[in-house]
Amino acid sequence: MASFPGLVLTIIAVINIIQIFSSSVWAAKEDTYERILNLKSDPEDDITIFGGNDMDLDTTFRPEDLPTLCRNFYAALPKRNFNPWGGKRGGFNPWGGKRQLTNTESTNNYHGEWDNERFHAHGGYLEVEQPSYKGMEETYCKAAEEVGVPRLDLNAEFMEGCSPIYYTQKNGRRYDTYHAFLKPIQDRQNLFIRKYSHVTKILFQGAQNYAVGVEYIRHEDLESLQIKVLADRPVGKNLQDHVSSLIGPFIVDEPISVDLDKNLTVSAVLSFAKRGEGILSSSGIQATSFLVSEVAKSRNQSDWPDIQHMLLGKSVNRQADVQYSRNYNTRLEVMEKFLKEAKGKHSFQIMNILARPFSKGQIKLDGTDPLRSPHLDPNYFENGLDLNVLVEGAKRAVDLVENSPTFQALNGRLHKIAFPGCEHFSFRSDDYWECYHRHYSLTVHHPCGTCAMGKTDSPDAVVDSQLRVIGTKNLRVIDASIMPHLTTGNIHAPTIMIAEMGADIIKSTWNE
Ligand SMILES: *[C@@H]1O[C@H](CO)[C@@H](O)[C@H](O)[C@H]1NC(C)=O
Ligand SMILES: *[C@@H]1O[C@H](CO)[C@@H](O)[C@H](O)[C@H]1NC(C)=O
Repeated sequence: MASFPGLVLTIIAVINIIQIFSSSVWAAKEDTYERILNLKSDPEDDITIFGGNDMDLDTTFRPEDLPTLCRNFYAALPKRNFNPWGGKRGGFNPWGGKRQLTNTESTNNYHGEWDNERFHAHGGYLEVEQPSYKGMEETYCKAAEEVGVPRLDLNAEFMEGCSPIYYTQKNGRRYDTYHAFLKPIQDRQNLFIRKYSHVTKILFQGAQNYAVGVEYIRHEDLESLQIKVLADRPVGKNLQDHVSSLIGPFIVDEPISVDLDKNLTVSAVLSFAKRGEGILSSSGIQATSFLVSEVAKSRNQSDWPDIQHMLLGKSVNRQADVQYSRNYNTRLEVMEKFLKEAKGKHSFQIMNILARPFSKGQIKLDGTDPLRSPHLDPNYFENGLDLNVLVEGAKRAVDLVENSPTFQALNGRLHKIAFPGCEHFSFRSDDYWECYHRHYSLTVHHPCGTCAMGKTDSPDAVVDSQLRVIGTKNLRVIDASIMPHLTTGNIHAPTIMIAEMGADIIKSTWNE
């Protein structure tokens, strides 16, 4: 029988393995993810989502245990991402240009190597740091430099570049938006936090569709609703997401990557538990780089990367095939065969991410029951250019490992096993890589765009540049769905920026 301290350590280890390994574990939790609903009645305050309601809401729930879907990467806020947002036509347009950078950054507390005050701030709510465990980060960015991709601050300007990964993290632990923004104010009288709640209806009044409140339920049943169209807007269209594949495994002769079979020791667990240090302080992603594909260059966008690579500095461990078959929805035999050569060796992989997709999907209601899951069709690869970009990304990942002196000194090489199902293509050819991505790809969980911001007269817009739902009054959408274009890179930081902009807009509206 396990002793008590042993059991505790096992539990800590298991929790952290889950955190380290699989974004898909988090994705699976989407089903159970509780929505937070902020409601207020005092227009003077800064946390308005809906004004003027008088519902009787108790405030006994505490969200400390809300699961966080995000891995907390803090990446890529260059303003190029935001220039096309919001439209240019007169009036209030806070989104173009530089303001959103200063806005976001001013709430940060940055601890990093690029201490440029134009792009990074100190003393804000949100902690941004590199984990204590840096892993292969230096090796990787040195190799990238050798193949022409310099080490630089990817949150400053856009160009090809490589950087260690930053997290919203404090002392080795997640520092998410709940801890940064919500927890400190959760006792405010006019803030209501509802776990296990589901909004079923927005209440409108008057000819101008004034939103005056919401109906929501906790666990009860709900009769079918008749939904009447008040404002005809393309809600649910324009769904964009980052789709990716893992390129590798790349085998090396030295133990430069984390090998969970060997390195997940009691001392590694204790070092994390006591000081937030060591391999468990990192998700396994240790560096990232942005690259410009030929597709972008041919569109005169040489200064706007469309490929993101993320270094997964972990060896293929004993359990990898089981995990990957679950994450990538492949049969276990497929992953067993594919990962066999790398098992027991030192290895790492490179996530190849389509940073600026052309394909768009949609999300659609499946009936009138608000509790029924909607239809979600990401429509990946509908536009063949997306595959061209990923094929180039795969080849550049291989090039980095096989043609940089740094990785050559470690005898770095792509393993020799073709992905099962793609063997009939010449190994490493463009056709092979295309087949590879069609069989072996995964969302990075960045869906957005389904309530796109734009000019009020644009047929593609759901909200205007003040995030108001066009055709209604008093109703705003403030989340990643308002992005007209998916940002180039992890959407964690841009989504926090949207929330901050939304808070500023609401404050200035009610102060007028
Ligand atoms: C992992 O274990 C190997 C083999 O014991 C060792 O050489 C390497 O330094 C360890 N790495 C870490 C990060 O602990
Ligand atoms: C390409 O970009 C340059 C610099 O922004 C611009 O001057 C030029 O007109 C563009 N060419 C095309 C074909 O869009």
